[in-house]
Amino acid sequence: MKYRLTKFANSIDGQPMFKVLAKVQEMQRQGKDIVHFEIGDPDFDTPKNIVEAAKEALDAGKTHYAPSIGVKELRESIQRATERSRGFKPDLDQILVVPGANMGIYYAVSCLVEPGDEVIVPDPGFPTYYSVIKACGVKAVRVPLREENSFRMNPEDVRKAITDKTRLIILNSPQNPTGSVMTKEEIEEIAQIAKDHDIYIYSDEIYSRMYYAEGVSFRSPSFLDECKERTIVANGFSKAFAMTGWRIGALVGPADVIAKMELLLQTTSSCVPPFIQYAAIEAVEGDQSAVKMMVGEYKERMQTLVDGLNDIKGIKCLAPGGAIYIFPNISGTGMTSAEFADFALEKAGVAVLPGTNFGEYGEGYIRMCVVSSRADIEKGVKRLKEAIEAR
Ligand SMILES: Cc1ncc(COP(=O)(O)O)c(C=O)c1O
Repeated sequence: MKYRLTKFANSIDGQPMFKVLAKVQEMQRQGKDIVHFEIGDPDFDTPKNIVEAAKEALDAGKTHYAPSIGVKELRESIQRATERSRGFKPDLDQILVVPGANMGIYYAVSCLVEPGDEVIVPDPGFPTYYSVIKACGVKAVRVPLREENSFRMNPEDVRKAITDKTRLIILNSPQNPTGSVMTKEEIEEIAQIAKDHDIYIYSDEIYSRMYYAEGVSFRSPSFLDECKERTIVANGFSKAFAMTGWRIGALVGPADVIAKMELLLQTTSSCVPPFIQYAAIEAVEGDQSAVKMMVGEYKERMQTLVDGLNDIKGIKCLAPGGAIYIFPNISGTGMTSAEFADFALEKAGVAVLPGTNFGEYGEGYIRMCVVSSRADIEKGVKRLKEAIEAR
């Protein structure tokens, strides 16, 4: 071959957890019983009313190309939902329907940050942030989320990380992988810092319906500019509505930024399938009892898992404020994150992810996700405890 892969192609890391998933699936094929805590994919099926809405849309012939920005009815639903949840009504040209919130990260970095410029990003954090940043030739400036600060992003750390090359701050609360929830004051302070330095904020709010801590209310940095100037809010249907396989999400942002992202979406995907968009309208506007049930169940599972782990020698685990994850400290076992993940899988049949999959500050931790039933969670914790005690 005369021509080789591009620097761009060679710098794409992807999402490391998909490798673990492949190994786990191979073990299951060999008949091993595995308890799953690895991938953030809800074990619930998509609520029936949403599935029915998709079927109706298919029957009604919603199977052609749709506008790249998204069908108007869905953008109107998102407009109303934003007003209910975040207190402002974005214009319709501020809303873009995207094929999953994951995609929004690529759109934002490629449209807003020049190669060589900097993005402030939480570490530990969602791996797509780092993969996109690296592939786009942009510098990640990692702000550590410390256990002693309950893994919340500290505004003072953000302030210190800013240079004249900073173009974008990525915020994620409730957070993957730690389950941390920032306070209203912290979010407001970071919104103000971004304004003072004239920097964009990408606020990944995919877990905004998943709060567990008492007395903590949802806050988005979009309150300050109503997504008119610098804030891009990313939201998704995957987690709250158990729709990971449908591939749909939404961005709300400044109209000029959304217009460019729409062209990028048009260039790469044309549009999000319209029958999926009609199902998403039902998710936002329809009966919310399934969402309440799932979030209630996650909360119970969290309690079971955190209590069980804190009873194992060498493991220390904070209760999460939201999302579907916990980030236990396993350093007391004497194993590294990767060693612990291998040990848990091979000796206890328990699939977890090493904290190092989520950044440079993940060593000493593992990520666990509450996507198994309470009975399975109890079984997994018991097996882990026995395996660790037998070492
Ligand atoms: C923080 C965060 N953002 C975005 C995504 C991607 O979600 P989607 O399935 O909508 O692409 C995830 C999925 O795990 C996530 O944890």
